[in-house]
Amino acid sequence: MSATIIDGSAVAKTIRAEIAAEVASMAAGGLAPPHLGVVLCGDDPASATYVRNKGRAAERAGIRFTLLTPSADSSTADILDLCARLSGDPDIDGMLVQLPLPRQIDTGAVLEAVPVAKDADGFHPLNLGRLAAGAAPPVLPGTPLGCMELLRRSGVPIAGSRAVVVGRSVIVGRPLALLLVNADATVTVCHSKTRDLAAVCREADILVAAIGRPGMITAEYVKPGAAVIDVGTTLVDGRLLGDVDRASVEPVAGWLTPVPGGVGPMTVAMLLRNTVALARSRRPAPIP
Ligand code: GUN
Repeated sequence: MSATIIDGSAVAKTIRAEIAAEVASMAAGGLAPPHLGVVLCGDDPASATYVRNKGRAAERAGIRFTLLTPSADSSTADILDLCARLSGDPDIDGMLVQLPLPRQIDTGAVLEAVPVAKDADGFHPLNLGRLAAGAAPPVLPGTPLGCMELLRRSGVPIAGSRAVVVGRSVIVGRPLALLLVNADATVTVCHSKTRDLAAVCREADILVAAIGRPGMITAEYVKPGAAVIDVGTTLVDGRLLGDVDRASVEPVAGWLTPVPGGVGPMTVAMLLRNTVALARSRRPAPIP
């Protein structure tokens, strides 16, 4: 058996085309195109690449894109000022601050400075809290949402399945665990202190690797036929590496997302979808 490779690039392309059509229909109805504002602090090469991809995808879909690039030695107050600038600008519909931020910056304070009405990433504690309460927030974090879309569109059964999420970050692991619980999976969240990680992972029908350690998940961690979602995006010598050792896992898994071309493009597509949803909610409703 060899895993079905889930083509995230192709799915994301379809979704981006749907978004472009929606933006065009807004324009046809006399509505201004959505506008996304992004703060990229410092010069982390991986973050710069992701933000470049977001900007390119936004502009191709007809979404306006404004980028603010404070230096790596900025203070929390500097970043909060920029957040206030974007949040107070009536022309901006959605905004985000690219993570991780330099060590000296209080990330929690920054995430709370993105108003819920413009929270393009869905990282505001109120939106994450709504997700934890089992409610559907208006926007959901892009990477977890992208993973769910790929599972659903690939026909992977979720309800009643055993899902194991390796990684408990606020960006991926925690919200994805909540989305899986809300979709009726039985979920285990693992992290650096988990004992006998491979044995826990081998119980998974759906295994999500969001650790940031290239190639760590080998066949030994995978139940035959499982869906393996690789969220790893570590940049090594200009190459993007996933957390899954594809050569070893592909013969064992039932489905596998590649890196690059799996979850990454979906994150961007879901961000655009969130931005359009926020813009729609800030424009007058169409007259029936
Ligand atoms: N860093 C890695 N992924 C993301 C993301 O989806 N949003 C933000 N803001 N930062 C990230």
